[in-house]
Amino acid sequence: MRLKSVLAAGVAALAFAPLAHAEPQAEVMHWWTSGGEAKSVAVLQQEFAGRGGKWTDMPVAGGGGDAAMTALRARVLAGNAPTAVQLKGPAIQEWFEEGVLADISAVADAQGWAKVLPASIANHMKCGDIWCAAPVNVHRVDWIWANKALLDKHGIAMPTTWDEFNAAADKLKAAGVTPLAHGGQAWQDATVFETVVLGLGGPAFYHKALVELDKDALTSDTMVKVFDQMRKLRGYVDANFSGRDWNLATAMVMNGEAAFQIMGDWAKGEFLAAGKKPGEDFLCASTPGDGYLYNVDSFAMFKVAGDDKVAGQNLLAELIVGPNFQKVFNMNKGSIPARTDVALDDFDMCAKLSAADMNASSAGGSLLPSYAHGMALRGAQAGAVTDVVTAHFNSDMSSAEAVRMLADAVANSM
Ligand code: BGC
Repeated sequence: MRLKSVLAAGVAALAFAPLAHAEPQAEVMHWWTSGGEAKSVAVLQQEFAGRGGKWTDMPVAGGGGDAAMTALRARVLAGNAPTAVQLKGPAIQEWFEEGVLADISAVADAQGWAKVLPASIANHMKCGDIWCAAPVNVHRVDWIWANKALLDKHGIAMPTTWDEFNAAADKLKAAGVTPLAHGGQAWQDATVFETVVLGLGGPAFYHKALVELDKDALTSDTMVKVFDQMRKLRGYVDANFSGRDWNLATAMVMNGEAAFQIMGDWAKGEFLAAGKKPGEDFLCASTPGDGYLYNVDSFAMFKVAGDDKVAGQNLLAELIVGPNFQKVFNMNKGSIPARTDVALDDFDMCAKLSAADMNASSAGGSLLPSYAHGMALRGAQAGAVTDVVTAHFNSDMSSAEAVRMLADAVANSM
């Protein structure tokens, strides 16, 4: 072979070698296992496969992701991190500080993420100067879902204050209807609690209490009232609430076994997956009070060896923030796109309400991170708050005692 063709063959081999080895691969850890969630994550699996990717699914059941985060810690400690992991809020930065997250800035820069993501979301995806996570959506947490037929039957309108909620719940209870579908798992208790903190205290109080962990706010009369309302809500759930998964609570509302559920809009994903229509079969409204509690799902890539895995990470990051995925996934998931340039025309009325309220809250300074869904606090602090919320909900602890415990638990977690 002449030198030129030897060189050409060599160059061709070099050009093809990485490609041959770089068929994108990803083991993806997530906790999207309910009907609506599984339908949503399938959109990503299909897009990934459509671009030649090989997806290894690593679902860890358990709403809110507590079980997934435990599984993740075990995998990383064993030196065997998954390629891509559903991870969000300050936990992203916590893992970055451990030195185990990959830098996905090349994809973010090439795809112009800085131009299509609002700064508030982009900030959660950055670790110092680099991009270390890809945002999927914006879930709103402070929602009430209701069975329309049940409310109509009992002449009840969607409540706009907590007093109205209590009056509606008392009326339903007297009529033998379970007012509130709830699953007694710590993260679900925390989800309800934060909407009550926002509703009764207002946005500034929420920020002081659950973002700054300000001692005066945590021990205030307002916080006592919040626990009083939690005690009332405890009286509105059925006898079998302990340990129930959130999607089974949603099914109770769907099937007319309970009137309301207080849950983030992943619950809407369940209604939609079951063919239910907003405004006809079920109603959505923000929980009483001002403000908007956001919960942004995202994926972080862990440092892994192998061109195929790195190619998989880059492809996943590109697809996740891609406009088509952001539309189709979020129409299934119940959330709204993280990107600002995806038209919402094909989304339902609840999604449109979410987007309008998010913009208004952002302009008015009441767009707030959900503590219950890992957006506001580091793990240890969030866990300290949730332990007290759950201990109170599942006992006859007084509100005054809960407030004292809350202040102590937070102080000890610092
Ligand atoms: C996640 C949602 C998920 C929900 C229930 C939340 O923390 O952000 O994506 O659907 O938990 O599992």
